Amino acid sequence: MISAKGIFFNGNNTWKLLRTNSSDQPLVVQLFGTDPSTLREAVHVLREAGHGWFDLNMGCSVPKVLRQGAGAALLKDVGHAVSIARAMLDAAGRGRVGFKLRLVDDGLGNSSAMDDLCLGLADAGAGWLTLHPRTARQGFGGEARWERIAHLVSLVDVPVLASGDLFTALDGRRCLAETGAAGLMYARGALRDPAVFGDHLALEQGLPAPPKTLASIARMIRRHMDLAIEHGDGDASLLKMRCVIPRYLHGIAGAKRLRVDICRCRTWPELEALVTDFFRHGESLAQRPSPGAARRDPWTETAPSG
Ligand SMILES: Cc1cc2nc3c(=O)[nH]c(=O)nc-3n(C[C@H](O)[C@H](O)[C@H](O)COP(=O)(O)O)c2cc1C
Repeated sequence: MISAKGIFFNGNNTWKLLRTNSSDQPLVVQLFGTDPSTLREAVHVLREAGHGWFDLNMGCSVPKVLRQGAGAALLKDVGHAVSIARAMLDAAGRGRVGFKLRLVDDGLGNSSAMDDLCLGLADAGAGWLTLHPRTARQGFGGEARWERIAHLVSLVDVPVLASGDLFTALDGRRCLAETGAAGLMYARGALRDPAVFGDHLALEQGLPAPPKTLASIARMIRRHMDLAIEHGDGDASLLKMRCVIPRYLHGIAGAKRLRVDICRCRTWPELEALVTDFFRHGESLAQRPSPGAARRDPWTETAPSG
């Protein structure tokens, strides 16, 4: 997710966030913003830079984003939201912009305001709609209301992507079956285990998802560290890895001490030594939550994002 204003004002940090490589295709650039003409111009500039697919974040509930009138704040005014959609679609081309939504909070739990918004976006030429069926006020509390995704699928004639409580590939498969969605957006599940995408493809082909072992998790951490060293930003990437690796340790017995030590380490060799040492003497991999029981995630229950 990058700021439309950041593109508009040619901010260095914004362009940094867009760094990628040629194998990262298809690539959708997600924007946040609030002013139709800034968003139109941002899409225009990004098209000139070679990007072809866009998404507008209308679900972000981070206070800093809401205060600017962006993210989930856009859900409050259907007319304004649709005028932004038209501006972006005008610059990108019909079908080339998707919209990421949370539930509209009308205080009553009705779907009519949400329906108006989604029909308006579809009518404006949206390529797809993604729904995380919680209100912004809910944050990550309670359960995602997948039945509202099913309702959206029956309401609009554009592809609907499902989001919310997709912690494992089995959750994803169940969500597709229950909602009729055209696709999924793995989020916390992928932050905890990027192999969820491979697991999903395996299940789709009727194969079992490869088992999680200490060795497979160690390999994944190693690979992520190597990529961060090769492509990242030195110390800034190290700081980021200090947040990323603890997520990968979810479900591993005896990893508490390692999490604390990782948060304190200051150099790549130090981080590498900690991880290598843990996995060499690692304790057993505790049972990860079963897919049926995995609709709560204490790690991000309070995470103020998305
Ligand atoms: C740390 C974090 C960062 C997120 N960043 C974004 C984002 O940049 N864009 C977006 O559309 N959603 C973002 N989300 C929201 C997720 O896409 C997703 O809708 C939400 O986490 C619910 O799915 P889940 O319960 O499977 O995690 C983020 C969520 C988390 C936890």
